[in-house]
Amino acid sequence: MVDRLLITGGRRLAGQIAVGGAKNSALKVMAASLLAEGQTGIRNVPNIADTRTMAEVLGRLGAGVERRDGSLTIDASGPLGLETPYELVRRMRASILVLGPMLARTGRARVAMPGGCNIGRRKIDLHIRGLERMGAQFSYDHGYLVAEAASRLQGAVVSLDFPSVGATENIMMAAVSAVGTTVIENAAREPELQDLADFLVAMGARIEGVGTPTIEIVGVDSFTPTVHPVIPDRIEAGTFALAACVTRGDVSLRGARADHLDLVLAKLEEAGASISVEEAGVRVAMDRRPSAVDLVTLPYPGFPTDLQPPIMALLATAEGTSIITENVFESRFMFVDELNRMGADIRTEGHHAVVRGVDRLSSAPVRALDLRAGAALILAALGADGVTEIADIGHVDRGYEDIDSKLSALGAEVSRQPSFQPAFSP
Ligand code: EPZ
Repeated sequence: MVDRLLITGGRRLAGQIAVGGAKNSALKVMAASLLAEGQTGIRNVPNIADTRTMAEVLGRLGAGVERRDGSLTIDASGPLGLETPYELVRRMRASILVLGPMLARTGRARVAMPGGCNIGRRKIDLHIRGLERMGAQFSYDHGYLVAEAASRLQGAVVSLDFPSVGATENIMMAAVSAVGTTVIENAAREPELQDLADFLVAMGARIEGVGTPTIEIVGVDSFTPTVHPVIPDRIEAGTFALAACVTRGDVSLRGARADHLDLVLAKLEEAGASISVEEAGVRVAMDRRPSAVDLVTLPYPGFPTDLQPPIMALLATAEGTSIITENVFESRFMFVDELNRMGADIRTEGHHAVVRGVDRLSSAPVRALDLRAGAALILAALGADGVTEIADIGHVDRGYEDIDSKLSALGAEVSRQPSFQPAFSP
């Protein structure tokens, strides 16, 4: 059963939403909890498909996972298994992030190779090369990546060709218990990495330099379970900020961290939004047609690639033409055809998209191709003329908790329809 959303465009959003915990931090803190024998507590974990999948991955490895309200308790006391099966990795690539902690804890891991997805090839060569530098050996067996470390991993200098978020995280989670010092050069600097490092340090790890391009980790012998609150989700906050702008609304994002959204808020101001940073979070309002803006996506602190599809939905009806350049993923413009079916005038050429603003989009049956593309279509529908049907909304449920209820609470007219696949296709 694959749900779809029906959205009636033209409703102005106003009010406030509570920003949830960051998906792209919670998943890694969950994986890192495998390092500590005992019960780890993680607070502010969004109840979304991806965290439920990661809980399944940990369960398969022998850890106990319990959810109560917005918190998880993960018990990784017992001996851990070996395998992370294909059906879980296929469902969520981030399952590959158990590699580092498993090598650190047990010296072995057997993880199905993640496939590509709708935004690019999603290689893991930087993960593998970094872990090999620390003494891990890899082999391939029937679609599985088999990792082994004959003895404890050794600290090493690892220079990343690209500041990959996942590679930096996997290497960091392995290095915290390696013998000696590991230096990660050209490391990713995303806030979610800082959050993971804060969690590891609270468990007893020794890490310096997170948030800069050079991270230094001195291995330790053991870890003490701790309780960790996950940071707010900057991509969810940015998505709702854009929903306020698309509907000429006024929305307070409670719990949002403006310091994680500097460039996003600057771009929204450039497009004509009024932004006010308050004690409780960030307030975003727009009372006129947005102006076109140019932007390039880059690793943090650059403009986040995960908000490239959502902001394109806003710029599709801007005054003027915007040039959007996607530098992080090879093919993150697949969703443009869906926007153009709603009347947008967007042409893509390689890494560039030329977005010629039109007066208004119009409803059409569209399909979410991936998580953030689906979010973009929801935003487009909120401003479009008529009722838009968005199929395959399961992609969006991977990363946004109760997005339809949150939008309805702000005044949107949204309904979720279970759409059963026909028993046979005539
Ligand atoms: C994380 O993915 C996020 N996912 C992504 O969010 C986010 O878009 C991305 O970082 C960039 O910010 C999670 O945190 C679970 P990368 P990740 O490794 O770690 C290439 C969302 O919507 N690369 O920084 O996979 C890769 O092909 C998701 O929430 C290699 O070439 O991102 C890509 O072009 C989508 N070899 C670029 O680097 C490698 O070994 C960025 O990938 C690894 C990556």
